[in-house]
Amino acid sequence: MRKLTGLAAAVALVAAGATAHAGEVEVLHWWTSGGEAKSVGELKKIMQGKGHTWKDFAVAGGGGDNAMTVLKSRVVSGNPAAAAQIKGPAIQEWAAEGVLANLDSVAAAEKWDSLLPKVVADVMKYKGNYVAAPVNVHRVNWMWANAAVLKKAGVATMPKTWDEFFVAADKVKKAGLIPVAHGGQNWQDFTTFESVVLGVGGAKFYQDALVKLDPKALNSDTMKKSLETFRKVKGYTDAAAPGRDWNLATAMVMQEKAAFQFMGDWAKGEFLAAGKVPGKDFLCAAAPGTSTSYTFNVDSFAMFKLKDAAAQKAQGDLAAAIMGTEFQEVFNLNKGSIPVRLNMKMDKFDDCAKMSSKDFVATAKSGGLLPSVAHGMAIRPAAEGAIKDAVSQFWNDDKVTVAAAQSRIAAAAAIQ
Ligand code: BGC
Repeated sequence: MRKLTGLAAAVALVAAGATAHAGEVEVLHWWTSGGEAKSVGELKKIMQGKGHTWKDFAVAGGGGDNAMTVLKSRVVSGNPAAAAQIKGPAIQEWAAEGVLANLDSVAAAEKWDSLLPKVVADVMKYKGNYVAAPVNVHRVNWMWANAAVLKKAGVATMPKTWDEFFVAADKVKKAGLIPVAHGGQNWQDFTTFESVVLGVGGAKFYQDALVKLDPKALNSDTMKKSLETFRKVKGYTDAAAPGRDWNLATAMVMQEKAAFQFMGDWAKGEFLAAGKVPGKDFLCAAAPGTSTSYTFNVDSFAMFKLKDAAAQKAQGDLAAAIMGTEFQEVFNLNKGSIPVRLNMKMDKFDDCAKMSSKDFVATAKSGGLLPSVAHGMAIRPAAEGAIKDAVSQFWNDDKVTVAAAQSRIAAAAAIQ
């Protein structure tokens, strides 16, 4: 009896300790599709395991445009979430507002500097201090395909060039199926566009035109050819594409209605969540002409300054968990991406992820590693938005000539 009382007292003490440190962590993200929700669920589990309360703040809308609008209004009203999915140069813009928390003590304790590729660590820091924690590396320049549809259409291998792609697409059309599953939203249009630019012009041209926004590159014949190729791709999409969500386009590929989709590897998360097997049910390959390049998209959580001590503790635990080996593995297995933390074992990952990991390392050496513009990794948000609008206007309206699109893109690129 006495022993039991002692044990009960000990349990009560531990519980009290846990409550003293447990905090609520509100996390804003846009991971609402099947594969995405499963992935973020893993982070929730880890945080709950540490005794914290997870307050989910999901704002639907692929690519995150809606989430960013909601985030702005919450911060302006002085009530930010503890953490928000913010990426690339936008992290710097938020940090310059003075609203982000300094994560240096967690980063130092967990040795982030030695666990992250420098190109990634630099994006997570503002004036040398960590203000965000990276989650993964998504590759954007992928092409996904349904193996059975290709077989039905008589397409023997995944096309490697845009010319081969159009031959394959014609065969799919002849077989009565949709060659390209597409969702007509600005960020999806641009996801396809940047892969076309990369495939047509190569890594240096991509860098000059879309990252450096060099007017000479934007007005060049190579950009003209890229736009012509992009318009040709549109001819292989279906009439119901405008406004369609990306995961519904992925579903068309899964359901054998469409052959291909140009999308980052969160699409793989969707295939996997539906029980599809890579290499058997669905195939992955670099978008035509882009196998020696890699457009990267690193998801990350920026942390906002909070007053409450328990909430600050929960926030620090979240940052540490995100970079921990347990989360990096289980999250990325579900999400379709690869761990951002260096030296992680890849044995549980599938061949698409292994190829991504190998190509990430190879392209970092060769100069083929490039930031995705479509996913907010490369340029200031204002210019990015304006360029995306110009590209989508061209995609949506066949009356906009290639020359007009070129000058609209160049004008948008000049926006400060
Ligand atoms: C994000 C991914 C997300 C995708 C679709 C991208 O910008 O980086 O994590 O799955 O949008 O919502």
